[in-house]
Amino acid sequence: MLNMVQTDYLIIDSDCPQPEYIKRAAQVIQKGGLVAFPTETVYGLGAKALDPESVQQIFRAKGRPSNKPLIVHIADWESLGQIVSTISETARRLGEKFWPGPLTLVLPRHPNVPMEVTAGSETVAVRWPANIIAEELIRAVGMPLVAPSANRSGKPSPTDAGHVMEDLGGKIELILDGGMTRLGVESTVLDLTKEVPTILRPGGVTREQLEEVLGEVRVQERVIVSEEAELEIEPQAEAETSSESSSEEYIKEKPLILVQAKEEELVQRILEIMDIMRERGMKIGILTSLENYPKYRDVKYPPDYLQVMGSRNDLADVALFLFKTLRESQLADVDTILVESFPEEGLGMAIMDRLRQACRGKVMKV
Ligand code: TXA
Ligand code: MG
Repeated sequence: MLNMVQTDYLIIDSDCPQPEYIKRAAQVIQKGGLVAFPTETVYGLGAKALDPESVQQIFRAKGRPSNKPLIVHIADWESLGQIVSTISETARRLGEKFWPGPLTLVLPRHPNVPMEVTAGSETVAVRWPANIIAEELIRAVGMPLVAPSANRSGKPSPTDAGHVMEDLGGKIELILDGGMTRLGVESTVLDLTKEVPTILRPGGVTREQLEEVLGEVRVQERVIVSEEAELEIEPQAEAETSSESSSEEYIKEKPLILVQAKEEELVQRILEIMDIMRERGMKIGILTSLENYPKYRDVKYPPDYLQVMGSRNDLADVALFLFKTLRESQLADVDTILVESFPEEGLGMAIMDRLRQACRGKVMKV
């Protein structure tokens, strides 16, 4: 078990961060502690990237498996040279176009970077976040920071400081509350060490944006295997342990099922699945787009829980509230939650990826 620490909480100005707060946060990190801070994507949990002890703390606080590498965060070009061994022309071009911003580049590791950071790999992931608090903090520490999303492993990433407190209160020294993050989904992870640049995780920078710069871009299938979900799920289905979570904590989850169908049939299919499950005595929740909300609400027996994820015409809005909605839906008094799917274009690719993760691969194609 981790020793409990007191978690200090500072509300910091997101346009003009109070210098004394930045200084205090930097001192905590310099001494080897952990500080959660906002980036433009989600909240990160920061520690000194070049100090193995600090890096190990991160894995402990999050309950993160040690084979999952961390992203190094920089806030100037010089630092890139301390982190990666060679900066290709492509890397420079992408950095110039998208940094600061939600793009993480996987590049050859510099010998400076501890193996704990890269989980034993000879590649390292690096990005320059577009958030003044994050940038000033990195500069004040005087060293790049590793910063995974500041959630317990297996939980949705935090988009406000309250989520961080929920997950990591008592485990980290300080939370900088800079309000809600601007994007809501994490950065795009792009591997430039492959022959063809390959998206390992879709995110804030879209495939289409990358193709404009690079021409060909591949997308690697993410680890979650999409399995056809069974309809035979019993009420109070056994809680699953998160596949990511270490043995330390057992996370009980409400099962989510992602329903994929032609857009014009989606609502009808979801209502049919809901009816079948209800006949078995289950309580059903639905996560819907704004457009379809009335179609679930105005039926004879509406779902036991109905929550809007945002508009189909504004995927940035869906992305922004996605993790908050997923977190809140876990509190609903239901047995299973059915989730609408979105087209995999633009930000839709990141949204669908996160929904698949949240559903632990339970996808129903109907
Ligand atoms: O937006 C973000 O990227 C946020 C904010 C805080 O910056 N950070 C974040 O970190 O999402 P994390 O640790 O939750 O996710 C890091 C992702 C993982 O999918 C990990 O496998 C991948 O980056 N990654 C890190 N280093 C890698 C490497 N050397 N090769 C391949 N993938 C890597
Ligand atoms: Mg994460």
